[in-house]
Amino acid sequence: MSEIFYPNRDFSKQANVKNMCEYKETCAEVDDDYEGYWDEMAKEKIDWYKPYDKVLDESNAPFYKWFTNGKLNVTHQCIGRHLKSRKNKAAIIWEGEDGSRRIITYLLLFYRVNRFANLLKNKFGVKKGDRVVIYMPMIPEAAFAMLACAKIGAIHSVVFGGFSAEALSDRIKDAKAKVVITADGAFRRGNPYLLKPIVDEALEKGCDSVENVLVVQRNFEEIDMVEGRDHIYNDLIKLESEFCEAEEMDSEDPLFLLYTSGSTGTPKGVQHSGAGYILWAQYTMENVFDVKENDTFWCTADVGWITGHTYIVYGPLAMGATTIMYEGVPLYPNAGRWWKMIEELRINQFYTAPTAIRLLHKVGADEPAKYDLSSLKVLGTVGEPINPDAWLWYYNTIGGGKCPIVDTWWQTETGGHIVSPLPGATPIKPGSATFPLPGIKAEIIDKEGNPTPKGEKGLLCITKPWPSMIRTIWGNPDRFVKSYFGDCKKDGKPVYFSGDAAIYDDDGYIFITGRTDDVINVSGHRLGTAEIEGVIGHEEHVAEVAVVGKPDDIKGEGVFAYIVTKKEIDEESLLKNINKLITKDIGPIARTDGILLVPGLPKTRSGKIMRRILRSIAKGEEITQDISTIEDSSIVGIIEKLFKSKK
Ligand code: WTA
Repeated sequence: MSEIFYPNRDFSKQANVKNMCEYKETCAEVDDDYEGYWDEMAKEKIDWYKPYDKVLDESNAPFYKWFTNGKLNVTHQCIGRHLKSRKNKAAIIWEGEDGSRRIITYLLLFYRVNRFANLLKNKFGVKKGDRVVIYMPMIPEAAFAMLACAKIGAIHSVVFGGFSAEALSDRIKDAKAKVVITADGAFRRGNPYLLKPIVDEALEKGCDSVENVLVVQRNFEEIDMVEGRDHIYNDLIKLESEFCEAEEMDSEDPLFLLYTSGSTGTPKGVQHSGAGYILWAQYTMENVFDVKENDTFWCTADVGWITGHTYIVYGPLAMGATTIMYEGVPLYPNAGRWWKMIEELRINQFYTAPTAIRLLHKVGADEPAKYDLSSLKVLGTVGEPINPDAWLWYYNTIGGGKCPIVDTWWQTETGGHIVSPLPGATPIKPGSATFPLPGIKAEIIDKEGNPTPKGEKGLLCITKPWPSMIRTIWGNPDRFVKSYFGDCKKDGKPVYFSGDAAIYDDDGYIFITGRTDDVINVSGHRLGTAEIEGVIGHEEHVAEVAVVGKPDDIKGEGVFAYIVTKKEIDEESLLKNINKLITKDIGPIARTDGILLVPGLPKTRSGKIMRRILRSIAKGEEITQDISTIEDSSIVGIIEKLFKSKK
């Protein structure tokens, strides 16, 4: 589809960036003086305790440093500085799945975070630089916990509540966390579920660094408490003072770790630092979502992912906006839940994943008509490419044909949006993330840095350092350099490669085509196929396994495994066994949708599995790759036949 959707004129008039001329002017300004531009932004947007000496320090590339020797505290940016003019404004509006609501004003948020920070500091001895793991459902205390860490300079690592005990324990161990913050449980699809027992199980797996566990009571379930180690938040928090001195943090002190999947091995602890990250969070809120003082912003992600970090917590609060937090699932009690919330809370900007749009379109196409969605101004998507059908439904039915859709491309590692339309300026082509934001150098190139010709696939790279970039992989600087700066160069210098491939169309619009590595994107969640293979390989009947993504109408991609067995078993039973193991070792998000039993896997003579071929088969594509290097090339035809006969 090549139709172009122009910004709504009335919207453009009031937008922060009003047209493409303004966009191009800013890009030219940035080209002239890159550091000057970011200097101006950092001065304008951040409330510094002490100014920085230097905008960008490239002396130890790719370990770039931004705003060196500046001092700040992110919670002052997100809470403290708003108390003068916004103390009674809603900072967070939380809605439980049962419909109950909590409204936390900026002043109340200030007190909550201070008490929480005092509790961590006074009761558990948490100091600057200590790691705190947060394993929480979607309740305001998750945000309080993150901000409490930031207030005292502790480094938080939020682990998505859907991960299993095994996955949680790996993350706790890697970060050597001192404290784990969790909840007794929460509600999902109308039912209570428990989280604390998962923490107990995780801690049995040798997490020696953990001294204390703090448990927020959400649904007041009966849970086991370990004497001396476990504490009830609801009791302790009352004892703490509402005032807490913020730690003076250096620009480059780490703010948080967030574990994400890589193409090989264990998950990587992506490390972000305070100043550059918070600047980016605010900059993108203003420019990409065009949020204004009285707007109500809703990002439907979970705080366990980067989208939740930047666009539920840090971004909206940094700019003093009102952010919505919803506990439950979109289909509870029916597929109209989100649209009802948009009507009742008069949401102005709504940000979600294509997978959710496809699901709500499929199961509840008639629901939106029952609600008044006219408060909406900007719609956003993230996490995966959006297909034209879903895009058009979102645009016409949810946005009433008047709201621009910002298709935002970015990653855990980038901290915030990188390639995205500006809602008042960019003519939009459905399925395209359009152009890099002003101030960022994102380019599609080959490994040597040559621009890719229009219409041809190339590598999506960010060729200049940017303020909110990943600083390192926690505890593994070599892996950081290798993973991100090992593949592509420009002008002889290593540049950041995202792992994604993309195409410029004839007008220079960027279309993301997907990962080039062994990472798959299931419902917008990033999963490493190597991790899943590791788990499946432990099933007693499995001799060999290769996992790939298989196109799925709702989820974008589903997990699909080709398996060679060593003992006889039928497919159905094997799939059941495998999913049990995956749920236990990773979590239900990585469950396998389908398997195919095969007599062998295509391998190179050196024994490497040729996953590209298996990917093509799963996608139903013709095999165009050279298969002459395969040890036994007949296997490709056999697998293809088996795959087709299964369909
Ligand atoms: C994919 C999520 C197409 C991409 C913020 C990227 C997208 C990975 C888009 C990062 C988009 C993200 N269009 N693909 N608009 N946004 N992706 O770290 O493959 O969970 O590398 O961050 O999601 O996933 P992550």
